[in-house]
Amino acid sequence: MTTKSADLEELAQEDRTWLKSVSVAETLPAVPQDTELLQVLGDLAVPGPELDEAIRLRARIDDHELRYVLERVLTILVGGIGSSTGPDRLPDLSGCDDPLARYLYLYAFAACFPLTRQWHRDREIPDEVGRRTLADLGRQMTHQRRRHGRSGLMINTAWLTHHFQGRLFQLGRLQFELAGLGRTTSTEIRAAGTDVAPGAPTLLVHIPGYCGPMDPASVRESIEAARRFFGRHFPEHQPATLTCHSWLLDPQLAGYLPADSNIISFQRLFTINQRPTRPTASDADTFEFVFGRRDVEARDELPRDTTLQRALIDHVDGGGHWYGGVGWRPFQATEAREL
Ligand SMILES: CC(C)(COP(=O)(O)OP(=O)(O)OC[C@H]1O[C@@H](n2cnc3c(N)ncnc32)[C@H](O)[C@@H]1OP(=O)(O)O)[C@@H](O)C(=O)NCCC(=O)NCCS
Repeated sequence: MTTKSADLEELAQEDRTWLKSVSVAETLPAVPQDTELLQVLGDLAVPGPELDEAIRLRARIDDHELRYVLERVLTILVGGIGSSTGPDRLPDLSGCDDPLARYLYLYAFAACFPLTRQWHRDREIPDEVGRRTLADLGRQMTHQRRRHGRSGLMINTAWLTHHFQGRLFQLGRLQFELAGLGRTTSTEIRAAGTDVAPGAPTLLVHIPGYCGPMDPASVRESIEAARRFFGRHFPEHQPATLTCHSWLLDPQLAGYLPADSNIISFQRLFTINQRPTRPTASDADTFEFVFGRRDVEARDELPRDTTLQRALIDHVDGGGHWYGGVGWRPFQATEAREL
């Protein structure tokens, strides 16, 4: 297997060092092909045009030099199933010219898919929860195409390891990730009167895009589903809080959106730190979620169709900034025997 190629030379030095440090597992799952690949990519909600291209390119990966990268990514992916944290790094392939590089992560996740599903079965996780969770992969491809104009899957690959390694589940409208409280968040929660230590179990709440509005009823249903799901399938993880880190929790939004809007209703579910201990403005992050663009300076060109879009632009025009907010709420999983 050659390790020297135009594609590998396009990788950052840190990625090449990382790749060298991984000892490939003796047995690795095969990348599915033909109809089998079609079925897996269907389950992963891969959008049509990319599904076609990925299946057509599949045969090339077997004797292509990028297989060197695939084997190492797959080793880390499969080896981490069931672990509490994700890989420290994954190579960034966005600088590679070969179209195969755009699909390398897709092939790795497709190969990992049956093992993740088996792990779900071992935990007695309902089939539909597993399927709906892993279908987030297709959303990430849509996201990449809309925001970066490129097909394939080269962004948010570390994010998807949470799904494929069994740390994150979609339950109705929301996703929940098994995690430990960070130092800053636990300090903030303690300061607000709840005694928690850094590393204490929590569930991180995520709000997937491309899923329609998040009305309060669907949010409540998701949280109730999480109470039952984690109590039953992860009884060893005893979270005392739900925690959310998001642009949606910037308290300044309440000055612009109606009190009955979904975003403000969502904010009311959490205690939000009103005195940010993380004062780094993140205008570009907030703009990216709403406009699909990070270029805050070009805001004159952005649409002003919704209340939120107008709020984001007017606030920055007035000299303000947007911040990522952090919120938490007490949470107790239901004991399995109560089901
Ligand atoms: C989170 C989300 C579902 C909220 O949408 P929602 O349920 O419609 O929220 P609200 O009811 O509070 O919306 C209030 C107003 O803001 C608008 N709005 C909300 N989210 C918007 C978005 N992403 N882009 C543009 N406008 C948006 C609504 O259309 C509404 O405007 P209107 O009254 O003029 O019609 C939506 O923003 C979204 O899908 N975001 C992408 C995913 C995301 O950001 N996740 C969090 C990652 S940290």
